[in-house]
Amino acid sequence: MRVEVDRTACVGHAQCLAICPAVFASDELGYAVVVGDGTVPPEHEDDAQEAADFCPEQAIGVSR
Ligand code: F3S
Repeated sequence: MRVEVDRTACVGHAQCLAICPAVFASDELGYAVVVGDGTVPPEHEDDAQEAADFCPEQAIGVSR
């Protein structure tokens, strides 16, 4: 599973960071960034999917 953040859609709601801090962090401007290369460790896949589902801007893309 891989995730990516659409930087043109993210407005910094930070729900993704709260739901899945192992995968999402914030940059210096408060926008989300993906930790590492975007590959989600299996143990964090459910949280990463939840973070994508709950982003109000639908800024998180998931691929499997
Ligand atoms: Fe951005 Fe959505 Fe997270 S707006 S900070 S990707 S909850």
